Parts: sequence; C-alpha cells; structure tokens
Amino acid sequence: MRFINQNLHHTRHELQGGQIMSKGQVEFTKDNEYYTPKQVVDFFGQFDYDPATTKEKAKEFGITTYDTIETDGLKQDWTKYKKIWINPPFTEKHKFLEKAYKTYLENPYINIYILFPIEFLTTKRFYEITKNVGGKLYIPGGRIPFESGLGKKGKSPAFGSIILKVQNKWEVEIIDIENFKNKGNDKKWMINIPK
Ligand SMILES: C[S@@+](CC[C@H](N)C(=O)[O-])C[C@H]1O[C@@H](n2cnc3c(N)ncnc32)[C@H](O)[C@@H]1O
Repeated sequence: MRFINQNLHHTRHELQGGQIMSKGQVEFTKDNEYYTPKQVVDFFGQFDYDPATTKEKAKEFGITTYDTIETDGLKQDWTKYKKIWINPPFTEKHKFLEKAYKTYLENPYINIYILFPIEFLTTKRFYEITKNVGGKLYIPGGRIPFESGLGKKGKSPAFGSIILKVQNKWEVEIIDIENFKNKGNDKKWMINIPK
C-alpha cells in the first residue's frame, strides 16, 4: 500500500495553497489535495464520472471517466453522465457547485453528489447557487477523515463535511458514521489507494 500524497505532479499546488491551519490538536489543510475515504463514495453507489480527481483515486473508486487539474473538469460537458461524484478542490468549491446546478437544470435525470465543508452551507454563494432549485443534504453523524496531500493522514478533522445531492426540493438525512465504515471489508477508515 502507498499513500496518495506521492503524486509528485501536485507539488506545485501544495506549495501554492498548502496553508496548514490548526485548531487545538487537530491540523487541517487549505490545500486542494485531500481525498475521500472509499467507503463514503461506496455508500452512495457506483459513479460514472468525477470531474475533480486524480488517476489513482478514480481507479480506487472504480470511476472510469474523470478529469484532473490537467484536463480541468470545469471545462467539460457533464450532462452526458448518469451519476457524478464530486469532492471539489477547497478553493474552487463554488465553481463546481455552480456547474453541478447548471448541469442538473440541463439534465434533471442526472444524479450529482457533492461533498463540502459544512460551513460552506452558510455562505451567500451557496445560497445564491441553490436557492431556486434544492438539494438533499446527507449529514454524517461524525467526522470524515481525509488524507492530505501534504502527508498528513487525517484522523479527526477540525471541520465537518456534508454530502449534497442536487435535486429540486430540500431534504435532510442524518447518517450514522458507522454506516459508511460498514461499507468496507474493514471496519476502519481506508484512506490509502491500491498500487
Ligand atoms: C479534494 S480532492 C478530491 C479527489 C477525489 N475526487 C476524492 O473524492 O478523493 C480535489 C481534486 O481535484 C483536483 N482539481 C483541482 N482543480 C481541478 C480542476 N479544475 N479540474 C479537475 N480537477 C481539479 C485536485 O488536484 C484534487 O486532486
């Protein structure tokens, strides 16, 4: 097993955006290179497109079509896919959210799931993008640990995350964090990737 922060082509972004913030004993990063545990993605089923990822994570999640920073998912047409997974880069989450809603309005049969820090819910940007449509908010009852591209293996991040499914009415579902963990063979979080 090896950890994802070995993607050397991301070094430039780590240097530019890799500001580490700390809160108590927990460190988190404002860098864009942090990754979702596979069990969280598996909980929502099989996806056919991820517009913001790395080759390694797409392979781990079994997502055959994907874009990376090099190919720029924001420039692609998302309407042709059935089910899209997005954990957007921290600094560009509003752009990915905006495109997700635009795509949904063009193709209401599409299923788009987007993960972001819960704090983003209370921003003017979030309100403006979603107000005339809706969404289903999946609120985990516990913290999702991420792996940081700066080499920090996340345990208990200082911020909570939610997953939003784009749809035309507002709904909320609370998820026991154990339900994510139970998706894997192992009851522990898996945040490493296959070779
Ligand atoms: C927060 S990570 C999430 C990766 C993966 N989807 C996951 O759930 O673990 C966001 C990824 O998007 C990449 N990225 C940043 N800007 C992008 C862009 N414009 N188009 C595609 N990918 C981008 C980053 O390099 C990073 O690997």
